[in-house]
Amino acid sequence: MFKFFRWLFGRKKPLLEYKTEIASPDGRTVCEVQLKNGQVFYAVYKDKKVVIRESHLGMNLRGDNPLYNGLMLVRTLSRTMDDTWETIVGEEKIIRNNYNETALYLAESGGKKRLFTMRFRVFDTGVAFRYEIPPQPEFQRLVLADELTEFNVDANGYAWHIPAYQPDRYEYNYSRSPVYELSSSVHTPLTIETPVGYAISIHEAALYNYGSMTIKLNQKNVLAADITPLSDGAKAYVELPFNTPWRVIMVGDNALDLTTNRMILNLNEPPKEDFSWVKPLKFMGIWWAMYVGEWTWAEGERHGATTEHAIEYIDACKRLGIDGLLVEGWNNGWNGDWLKNGPTNDFMHPAKGFDIERVAKYAKDNDIELVGHHETVGYIDNYEKQLDEAYQYYENYGIHYVKPGYAGAWMTIQGRKEYHHSQLGVLHYQKALELAAKHHIMLDVHEPIKGTGLERTWPNLLTREGARGQEYEGGALSPSHATILPFTRLLSGGMDYTSGIFDVTNGTKRIATTLARQLAYYVTIFSGMQMASDRPRFYETEQKEAFKFIRDVPVSWERTVPILGVIGQYYVVARQGRDTEDWFVGGVTNEEGHRVRLNLDFLADGIYEAEIYRDGDDAHYRENQLSIIIETRKVGRMDNLDIFMAPGGGFAVRLKKVQ
Ligand code: NOJ
Repeated sequence: MFKFFRWLFGRKKPLLEYKTEIASPDGRTVCEVQLKNGQVFYAVYKDKKVVIRESHLGMNLRGDNPLYNGLMLVRTLSRTMDDTWETIVGEEKIIRNNYNETALYLAESGGKKRLFTMRFRVFDTGVAFRYEIPPQPEFQRLVLADELTEFNVDANGYAWHIPAYQPDRYEYNYSRSPVYELSSSVHTPLTIETPVGYAISIHEAALYNYGSMTIKLNQKNVLAADITPLSDGAKAYVELPFNTPWRVIMVGDNALDLTTNRMILNLNEPPKEDFSWVKPLKFMGIWWAMYVGEWTWAEGERHGATTEHAIEYIDACKRLGIDGLLVEGWNNGWNGDWLKNGPTNDFMHPAKGFDIERVAKYAKDNDIELVGHHETVGYIDNYEKQLDEAYQYYENYGIHYVKPGYAGAWMTIQGRKEYHHSQLGVLHYQKALELAAKHHIMLDVHEPIKGTGLERTWPNLLTREGARGQEYEGGALSPSHATILPFTRLLSGGMDYTSGIFDVTNGTKRIATTLARQLAYYVTIFSGMQMASDRPRFYETEQKEAFKFIRDVPVSWERTVPILGVIGQYYVVARQGRDTEDWFVGGVTNEEGHRVRLNLDFLADGIYEAEIYRDGDDAHYRENQLSIIIETRKVGRMDNLDIFMAPGGGFAVRLKKVQ
């Protein structure tokens, strides 16, 4: 510590005014940082055009003066990073981490003379910064009252947003409106189409031990951080040293450019342990049968999670070439009103009729991974009491994947109702993730904390929900939703969208889709665990041919090449299977439909067999939903494929290298 202070103050006299420009490696993105009148500001430019105008930085603290005024610059330190790293599971195998960094060491000129650092990293694809506060004799801990970070974007930009502080967490339909019309807090990633043509997305990376950041217009009418409060109104209680999460402004030449922005992962640390045991998974589930009312989570005549059903489904997985099976409703706690049973849910005793030992053995003998399920309803005390043992329980049965759920409007912690996205929620999700890693368990978290790239450090965090998914179908999802997600929610990481529903005309849960679109999702929505969500009989008999794509499509990728996209209208992406030469393309469109001429120049030289799954000419998300054309042809990188996506439809192509 002493050495640090000696270094810090050992050189020149502190500066009262200062201005610097930190340019990205390609020089196109520039962050301008300024100290004037004792306050710090930053601004962001791309190609000399303003992306973020002068914006304030600072914090209001409870029981202490704000960290905001009377600042001077003690020292700066700059460096360049250019590195590559390998993902265990992901959209790309190799990720380049390349930025220029400057840290500004600031000190108050009066009062307690507190110190903090603003660290900026400028990538070709955007700007990130965070507050770093070392422990000091008179400053050992803080209670955050408000983070004053501003993101002063042009208010005429169009924002794609979902509301914050709502009972269904992130599970809302997106709205598009000018920034100046944002009347209450919205979640991040907050994607904005700027008037000068760039697309930006404001988000955060490496969210640990702090309330998550939502965004709202502040009193000056400037977009600003609004950190999720605890029930006592404080935003975070932290011991120093402390680094806030990174505040990130991804900047794309256009919206499609954002979809391969890797800043969020790059701003997280490499793993500290060996995670070579982490494997992506495709799985089916004793699940959708409950959504359409065929089976129930609760025990009784129609109980889904029986030993017999599990064995039938394991046999089906085997026949269909699917490696995993999720079983929901397997444990005590589902009888009666399961949402009310949250405080007593029991994760270590199976329901009557479910012989976990037999099912686990049968799965193992057949090489099928079971996916366990913990529905906590947000009752954290009850869950944390059991957590370590509950993971151990699964581990004893050879279960390495778990889907935890936090359905419920609140996290109930020590008798208090807290937001899922408050500091207490964040701490809980982290505790669960780390304990899971200890037990070599991989997670698919439903009702999660949003993604902030932690899967780089904790690759066992294979996927999460955290947006409106297919279970909302049956009226609550419009076809445009899946054309918005790639530019918003998916910038924060993979999503378990529960794709592959083939029984689309079901009277109970009719799905606004065509059959081909269900296949497209496996490519357009990345997820380290992909579900084939429907009941096996729809895959084995009715739509056997279409199912072949679900069987063939990889979960983890070598490379991702975005092809076409307009937020809310259509999105087409090509991905190369991890460690293979084969490519897969997926496209989805809104209720208008869209025709694409797919240029195959992302392929290597040679001949590929294209298996095309596309909407029939009469297909539509409301009628003739099952109309599909499946055809095969030989193609090369100079070829184009003309494809019609029906209203609410989509397509999928597998390109298998044959020569
Ligand atoms: C909500 C989850 O998103 C869903 O997948 C699950 O089946 C239910 N909760 C019950 O746990």
